[in-house]
Amino acid sequence: MKINVSNIKKAVKYLNNNECIGMPTETVYGLAANAYSNKATKKIFKLKGRPADNPLIVHYYNIKDLEKDCETNKLFYKLYNSLCPGPITFILKLKNDSKISKNVTNNKKTLGVRFPSHRIARILLKSLKYPLAAPSANISEGISPVTKDDVYDEFGEKIKFILEGGRSKVGVESTIISLQKKLQILRLGGLDITILNKKLKTNLKTTMYARSKINSPGRRSIHYSPGIPIRLNAVKIKKDEAFILIKKKKEYNKNYFYLSKTNNLMESAKNLYKTLRKIKKLGYKKIAVQKIPNKNFGLVINDRLFRASKK
Ligand code: TXA
Ligand code: MG
Repeated sequence: MKINVSNIKKAVKYLNNNECIGMPTETVYGLAANAYSNKATKKIFKLKGRPADNPLIVHYYNIKDLEKDCETNKLFYKLYNSLCPGPITFILKLKNDSKISKNVTNNKKTLGVRFPSHRIARILLKSLKYPLAAPSANISEGISPVTKDDVYDEFGEKIKFILEGGRSKVGVESTIISLQKKLQILRLGGLDITILNKKLKTNLKTTMYARSKINSPGRRSIHYSPGIPIRLNAVKIKKDEAFILIKKKKEYNKNYFYLSKTNNLMESAKNLYKTLRKIKKLGYKKIAVQKIPNKNFGLVINDRLFRASKK
């Protein structure tokens, strides 16, 4: 994608004025604001209708900027060097003299940090004197946006500017890992955990569907919801249902929505939110989903669908 310098300048101007903007990342679009500003970060919660006790992820350009705000450790450097920038978020200890707004962490001592790889996001971060707090740019509990138009769908004119960055390549949120005390996965996401396990020579798992004892509200039930009922592991569909599939069926049906034409799980994860949004826009009142294999990116898809299916 061609870099539009004047758009980036506009984004910087709005952010410097304590406004929230839509920002592209490789995972999903974020609703970004100056992470050091109480005024700016307060707006994020208001726009999203997000509970104040749900902390935000802060986006940094590089490790040098991050070191001003967080305590780091050997394991973090190892993972940073091999996986960043990319779709992974680390929960680190906040430094006592960090400038991060108390709104971001809800006065807690930890901070979720991430280094997005999206080219435009990186140019934007490099142009600023502060990191960006950015949750997914959707109304709380809804589906994350993967294009500029999706962000507009969510907020309309309520936000002043959305930076164009094309369609998000990964299409699901970052994988979140905690480096506190014990290494733990708090949210499955855009970084395949089999890669993480290989790097670390570990066998980390998330107990899918289990309620995490760790306080990461992204793991709450009811989340990522299109606002209509979802039926999982469906074999046959009912007439009024939209059917989400990954395995090609012989027959054609206008209610069929394929996540992938070749049964590819990574492609399916990328298309998940786009497809849910499309089905909703078409006016369907119910969704049925074919069984998705519980491996690699299938784990992420099942995690999101399970929570989207909760009433
Ligand atoms: O890919 C992503 O991570 C996207 C893009 C925009 O970067 N952001 C994103 O943010 O998904 P959000 O706010 O929609 O989800 C962040 C999740 C929330 O569930 C929050 O509870 C959890 O991260 N989180 C943030 N800070 C945390 C902390 N200090 N400890 C535990 N969980 C935390
Ligand atoms: Mg979100």
